[in-house]
Amino acid sequence: MEPKIIKTKDEMRAWSRSIRSQGKTIGLVPTMGYLHHGHLSLITQAQKHTHHVVVSIYVNPGQFAVTEDLSTYPTDFHGDIQKLKSIGGVDVVFNPHDLYDYGVNTTTTEDININNNNNNNRGETVSCLEGETRHETWVRVEGLEKGLCGKSRPVFFRGVATVVAKLLNIVEPDVAVFGKKDYQQWRVIQRMVRDLDFAVKVIGSELTREEDGLAMSSRNVHLSPQERDQALSISRALFEAKSAANKGEKIVGGLRRSVIESIEAAGGKIDYVEIVDQESLEAVEEIKNGVVVCVAAWFGKVRLIDNMEIDVL
Ligand code: PAJ
Repeated sequence: MEPKIIKTKDEMRAWSRSIRSQGKTIGLVPTMGYLHHGHLSLITQAQKHTHHVVVSIYVNPGQFAVTEDLSTYPTDFHGDIQKLKSIGGVDVVFNPHDLYDYGVNTTTTEDININNNNNNNRGETVSCLEGETRHETWVRVEGLEKGLCGKSRPVFFRGVATVVAKLLNIVEPDVAVFGKKDYQQWRVIQRMVRDLDFAVKVIGSELTREEDGLAMSSRNVHLSPQERDQALSISRALFEAKSAANKGEKIVGGLRRSVIESIEAAGGKIDYVEIVDQESLEAVEEIKNGVVVCVAAWFGKVRLIDNMEIDVL
């Protein structure tokens, strides 16, 4: 089955409303494209829960800081459609040209300075969107967005929460599926949906790995063969941490240190290694059921994230 490609918000909303008026349910899988098996596993989840599935493909400028990799983010729309065609069961690909299409401000010298410095005049990091659009409403999930990835990517989660809020309002799905690969993102979206009463059920779908353990990610394509090899240290360290926990390791500091050392020994540069509660994402004092080990590390110019839930001790 070839998915229908929808480019505009109005057409997307009209399609959804006509489906819902027939008493059918819709599942949404938001993506930024360059699809891999991790994305496709989310689609399988959506298909299990709803009659119709919409996959959005949109590289959201609002979640990239101006120093980040928006311009080099990989895209392959044609390849994505082929993949979706081959798995079947995707009704619509929502691929808007611009979700912030309210008209463009005249760029001022001040905006250019802001963009060059990656800082606004209050010393805060700004996203690729600022200075370029009349968009000025942001959704912030104030607690959950702060730790882990939020520390080094201060505008990321408000950009994600905002674009997901927009997608939920445009597509009006019954179910939306997010990957646990982006653990903090999944929790941020769940909290936003609860706090703002969106009429959607959020499903967290398991992390998909390559056969050798590397967490699948669109960014893996930027790794050199050597860096890719080194990056395997992340999943190896996480599996070792899980097995140590299963054998009775209770000490957070020891487990954390061994994950850090394994990744650094392979040549990775740690952004963070944290052991946190799966719901609150707050640091825990001892290893127990319901914690998750979260990692972000650089290999060359590529920042990778991964995590391991510890549930059965
Ligand atoms: P993107 O990185 O394209 O990921 C889209 C969805 O696929 C996310 O829910 C992500 O967690 C999930 N995913 C990616 N790799 C996965 C893997 N190896 N296993 C399981 N799920 C995986 O995340 C985004 O896009 C954006 O931030 C978005 C939510 C679309 C908002 O712009």
